[in-house]
Amino acid sequence: MGRFIVNGGLPLYGKVRVSGSKNAALPIIFASLITHGVSRIYNLPDITDVKDALGIIGEFGAEIWKEGGVTFIDTSKLSYTVPSLGRVERIRASTYLLGACLVRFGRAELLPFGGCAFSKRPIDMHIAAARSFGAELSGNKLTARKLSRADISFRQPSVGATVNSLIMASGTKGETKLFGVAREPHISALISYLKGAGAEITVLGDTLTVKGGELHGSTAVIPGDMIEAGTFLAASLVTEGRVRVSGFDIGELKAFTSPLLSAGTIADVSGGSVMLVGKPKREISVTTGAYPAFATDLQPIFSTILASARGGSIEETVWRERFGYLVELSRLGLSYSIEDNRLTVFPSDVFSGRASATDLRGGAAAVLLALRAEGESIIEGGELVLRGYDSFAEKLRELGAEIEYAE
Ligand code: EPZ
Repeated sequence: MGRFIVNGGLPLYGKVRVSGSKNAALPIIFASLITHGVSRIYNLPDITDVKDALGIIGEFGAEIWKEGGVTFIDTSKLSYTVPSLGRVERIRASTYLLGACLVRFGRAELLPFGGCAFSKRPIDMHIAAARSFGAELSGNKLTARKLSRADISFRQPSVGATVNSLIMASGTKGETKLFGVAREPHISALISYLKGAGAEITVLGDTLTVKGGELHGSTAVIPGDMIEAGTFLAASLVTEGRVRVSGFDIGELKAFTSPLLSAGTIADVSGGSVMLVGKPKREISVTTGAYPAFATDLQPIFSTILASARGGSIEETVWRERFGYLVELSRLGLSYSIEDNRLTVFPSDVFSGRASATDLRGGAAAVLLALRAEGESIIEGGELVLRGYDSFAEKLRELGAEIEYAE
């Protein structure tokens, strides 16, 4: 168990460059299992989810080494195994083993795939997709003597089901069509990695056409993490400071920044970096949804901005019950009410105290409130935050925060 110790009430000033996107890095690491050769990955974030993902593919025999900030993965010689469940249970991305193992070994197992426990996280669409490629499920085992091309329509956009289907399609001879795919930036990053490995993939809105086959090693440059960027932009507003954030594509955060700007916050954009200044002057209402709508992962982060300003509401349509973190934020003064899948946050007098991270983004939100509140706060369960934020305390200290992370 780890904890953040924060002496809050200090406005943050300065520049921060976000690290590579967790949700782009993880699909690419697991997709390397269907390639035969050496892949190079640039800008991989140093976070525990990535360590776990590399650990899992290492158990299949992947050779992994680092040279000057580049991570090399050699997947020439792999053999099937059931990876250690500790790692599998810690990360949601272990779900991608379903597609990768079916392609590489013709077999996969339904393991206790993990990830943030803010909601039940079904994988029915992943399994339906595997069946469309010809896999058969008996008990918790999926087997496929041979995968064959498929036409798959998703009932709703799913990042994970899109990742698994892209992996299976890219490793299968023939032309597969995927309709109604997720279009997050991390899906685009996976597509460019798989194209570099030899798959032919065309994107037309939310339809992907994939010509797959035997794949070789590829290269990926992990894009900057838009959720980390939103977190630091929020830190700037919540502490009433001036933090310039770079290293990501500002356009990806349009659904997050535009409601703030229309409520009076100023955006200062220069040379690929952005700074948000001035808390919103009016109530704000947003609705989360699949990209490019407002990202559900920024829901907890946004609630701290609303609490520090004039309040507002967030309708959560992706994970309708993703509100478990609020009990912990209320221990630092955040005042809210929930009706069905709509969260209302009231302007709140935030105060220092003790709170726990319930999940990755809820934990980051607790740290944001602790940074705003005068005095010392302790945020338990800090290791959940380090799953998705590279050098979180160090980056905040660079901006003037008094924050320590203690195991
Ligand atoms: C990914 O989770 C992210 N995780 C989540 O981020 C993020 O919240 C989510 O996408 C939405 O953007 C990773 O990328 C590792 P989904 P995933 O499949 O793939 C339903 C973070 O903080 N669904 O897009 O699990 C599901 O219940 C994490 O970084 C099914 O019903 O999400 C949800 O309502 C938290 N059946 C919706 O689809 C399925 O088979 C979207 O889920 C699959 C999904």
